[in-house]
Amino acid sequence: MSLFDVYPLFDITPVKGEDVYVYDDKGNKYLDLYGGHAVISIGHSHPSYVKNISNQVSKLGFYSNSIQNPLQNNLANKLTELSGCTDYKLFLCNSGAEANENAIKLASFHTNKKKLIAFTNSFHGRTSAAVAATDNTKIVAPVNAQQEVEFFDLGDITGVEKSLKKGDVCAVIVEFVQGVGGLGESDAQFYEKLDQLCKEHGACLIADEVQSGFGRTGDFFAFQKYNIEPEIISIAKGMGNGFPVGGILIHPAIKASYGLLGTTFGGNHLACIASLTVLETIEKESLMENVFEIYSYFLQQSSSIQKHAKVKGRGLMLGLEFDFPVKELRSNLIYKHHIFTGSSKNPNLLRILPPLTLKKEHIDDLFDAIKSELS
Ligand SMILES: Cc1ncc(COP(=O)(O)O)c(C=O)c1O
Repeated sequence: MSLFDVYPLFDITPVKGEDVYVYDDKGNKYLDLYGGHAVISIGHSHPSYVKNISNQVSKLGFYSNSIQNPLQNNLANKLTELSGCTDYKLFLCNSGAEANENAIKLASFHTNKKKLIAFTNSFHGRTSAAVAATDNTKIVAPVNAQQEVEFFDLGDITGVEKSLKKGDVCAVIVEFVQGVGGLGESDAQFYEKLDQLCKEHGACLIADEVQSGFGRTGDFFAFQKYNIEPEIISIAKGMGNGFPVGGILIHPAIKASYGLLGTTFGGNHLACIASLTVLETIEKESLMENVFEIYSYFLQQSSSIQKHAKVKGRGLMLGLEFDFPVKELRSNLIYKHHIFTGSSKNPNLLRILPPLTLKKEHIDDLFDAIKSELS
């Protein structure tokens, strides 16, 4: 049997990872400024991560959600401590799409409504309601298109208000810093008004923090730069440093009942220990402080190529927007300079989504390589 061919692949076979580096089967070393799509948060094969997951799997790797699993409570408590989201409840699942699917479903249960508001250039995953709220018709199958979703440009508060006033919206889903769409972000005035309007018109505000959460922007969550209180916060990616885990944080206004949500694998012992280790490491190694420091160094160093590129995003969720398509540059960075970077919906944008352990010398390596390509 061969593989269902849905991914265009680079001809590189990583076999080992260590902190911000990956090594291929020929022994070549690559600087990973992509993190497997914003997934690697505390670095590849972090010693505590390897030790804790190995210990756990040698004891108990999995049991269902019908027994006590204190690791889930430990994870919820540590998440409260680091995020400051004190009154929220945690539901665990396995991926970003699943987190958003559960978030939307929960909002619909809670409000007894079914229409969604989403934004242009959004990406929320590939499951039913999540993909319908994603601004890419190519990945929306007819079966997904039956969802009622209205799209607005980020910042179009007048349009959103008009729609919310009709009273039939269950949720507004938003990435506070857009990922796949190309690092778009609005401002405090828009986001705070959006939160206020959701509350006024009985809709849930879903903060999609799948990519931007767990310290990637320097704040624990990207929305925390603003004065708002989402009803639901979805998380995944950096949460497990590569172990598949996702979840939603749920405001106390939304009540639980048995059977409302459920999953077989979500919250399993290995996923919990992986995510707990991520949180402990973010705290122990002051990684959110590191994100701010490296971000400001990135801004400084980017001035050397400022004629060609504009910095987008914040923290270590960054992009360099050039005045030409970056496909060839990205390919040269990988094959000639051994640096992984990411792409986005915007063909001119090079995305930088490294482990949060990144150091200044790695930023120097990136800009040296870019300068040698531009010269
Ligand atoms: C903001 C955002 N939400 C949701 C998802 C979907 O996550 P997953 O691929 O784990 O289903 C992604 C993935 O890129 C994302 O960037």
